[in-house]
Amino acid sequence: MGYKAKFRVWRGEGGEGRLEDFTVEVNEGEVVLDIIHRLQATQAPDLAVRWNCKAGKCGSCSMEINGKPRLGCMTRMSTFAEDETITVTPMRTFPVIKDLVTDVSFNYAKAREIPSFTPPADVQPGEYRMQQIDVERSQEFRKCIECFMCNNVCHVIRDHEENKPAFAGPRFLMRIAELDMHPYDVADRKDAAQEEHGLGFCNITKCCTEVCPEHIKITDNALIPMKERVVDRKYDPLVWLGDKIFRR
Ligand code: SF4
Ligand code: F3S
Ligand code: FES
Repeated sequence: MGYKAKFRVWRGEGGEGRLEDFTVEVNEGEVVLDIIHRLQATQAPDLAVRWNCKAGKCGSCSMEINGKPRLGCMTRMSTFAEDETITVTPMRTFPVIKDLVTDVSFNYAKAREIPSFTPPADVQPGEYRMQQIDVERSQEFRKCIECFMCNNVCHVIRDHEENKPAFAGPRFLMRIAELDMHPYDVADRKDAAQEEHGLGFCNITKCCTEVCPEHIKITDNALIPMKERVVDRKYDPLVWLGDKIFRR
């Protein structure tokens, strides 16, 4: 059965904006993105929203719904009471381009800072042999759809623009961990994770894991193991001795 829902949507651009109220029809089985599209079609033709697949796989439609980062296309209207006012705002950590669309180029800049997979020079493509457990470990991380909701929610940068240059965010710390765990990657990721990408900023609050639509255990399976690998290296007596001898 259809009903009328109360929506409060952030409208604005160029650093200015306000919440605008709408009453809009909802039909059975619809998701929040359907309602945003109905608003565009009937009441607010210039309402900006980014989306693509409408299947939870492109990561474009990240927004904050009642203050929580969610994919608009995967958030069923049945999640909310019919008389509840649903507030939809853009992701807070990134600059707003217009209405619900944010400029997520911060994330792409961070991605570019991470050196790509670096296999040993004497192993040719096609010669890699990996244990199934190593394949499965990185498969989890590769489910990422780059919705950037984990980076959006992390307190290290959410209200701290000044931390952004020194912090890659959970999505890309996870990428570094994935590469560091790869048996054929020979790049030294540990020092870079700590010194260039801000692994030490993460105090394992796990907010990133809570919002991940792919249910990747970002904190438990990537960030904490990476912290352990960095610490192991720091306190490994052989590494310590090597550093003393070779860094003189
Ligand atoms: Fe989105 Fe999860 Fe990937 Fe973060 S790790 S960008 S929350 S899919
Ligand atoms: Fe931030 Fe996730 Fe660490 S939310 S503090 S990166 S556990
Ligand atoms: Fe692709 Fe929502 S539109 S994830």
